[in-house]
Amino acid sequence: MKNLDQQIIELKKQFIDALARVTTKDQLETVRLSFLSRNGTIAQVMETLKTLSLEEKKVFGPQLNTLKSEAQALFSAKQEELQASENAGKVLQQQYFDVTADKPGQLKGSLHPYTHVIEKIEDVFITMGFEIADGPEVETDYYNFKALNIPDDHPARDMHDTFWLDVPGLLMRTHTSPVQIHAMEHAKPPIAILAPGRCYRHEATDASHDFMFMQTEGMVIDKNISMAHLLATAQTVLRAIFDKSDLKLRVRPGYFPFVEPGVELDISCPFCKGGCSVCKKTGWIETAGAGLIHPNVLRMSGIDPTIYSGFAFGFGLTRLAMLTYGINDIRLLHSGKLEFLTQF
Ligand code: PHE
Repeated sequence: MKNLDQQIIELKKQFIDALARVTTKDQLETVRLSFLSRNGTIAQVMETLKTLSLEEKKVFGPQLNTLKSEAQALFSAKQEELQASENAGKVLQQQYFDVTADKPGQLKGSLHPYTHVIEKIEDVFITMGFEIADGPEVETDYYNFKALNIPDDHPARDMHDTFWLDVPGLLMRTHTSPVQIHAMEHAKPPIAILAPGRCYRHEATDASHDFMFMQTEGMVIDKNISMAHLLATAQTVLRAIFDKSDLKLRVRPGYFPFVEPGVELDISCPFCKGGCSVCKKTGWIETAGAGLIHPNVLRMSGIDPTIYSGFAFGFGLTRLAMLTYGINDIRLLHSGKLEFLTQF
């Protein structure tokens, strides 16, 4: 009997000591298993009760029950204490969480090739006194065609494979030229604008065609603007864009209903001397459609063509991006693929 008495005191002491050493949930679980579980030491001592006499049971039964419930209470208290300190730790961690900290190995953002090309071309034009203009991508028939001297029955409409919207008269703009009209409606000459943006054409997609592409429109209107201004501007700008001071300009006749005369502007291939795959061994690369603004266009937008004249050009930015970076498939530019985009 004495023996069991001692054992109970000893066990309680052991349990309290073990609990005092606990600092983690795992350690607490180990203590629970060795003392409080079905095979734990407290249960084992209780098991010995069975072998005792009735008298002894009356003495030790209650003692053991007290031991068990005390141990249980101490255990729960410890459990709560651990939980509370874990919570406090989390709060502390969040309080000092540095959202600006650099995590090594993180993917860094990069600019889209279009952004690089647009920024470069905008810089060049801004230094020449141009303003950057913008216009809607969903246009009306009037801005995309009629005001550009392309009436309903004009065959030039066939050159633009147009996405017409379900709303009558609305379409996805097929070129940036409608921005010319918006600019004329909003300002009095002198006007000098550059208007880069997306254009849409109902094209079958392949390596060099997509239903969306980027163009930039440029336009100058003032008194006495002539072809000389257009050619000088185009040459200066193209030389700056390609970083080549000896770049040559070639002018061929071209037809666009909103200019007269109309021209196509080619540049000497900036990538080779005497022919490469980019210029298809011709030494020349097509870059822009341009011309002097047709008097009808000026008149329709309220500018008197007997006082003012102007030039306009449309320059393919998708083509420029592909040329600059040697991209051989237009679909890569529009794919959003990170393996491609992170190269720039
Ligand atoms: N908008 C024409 C096109 O997309 C290009 C252009 C613009 C031609 C301005 C002449 C003047 O084909």
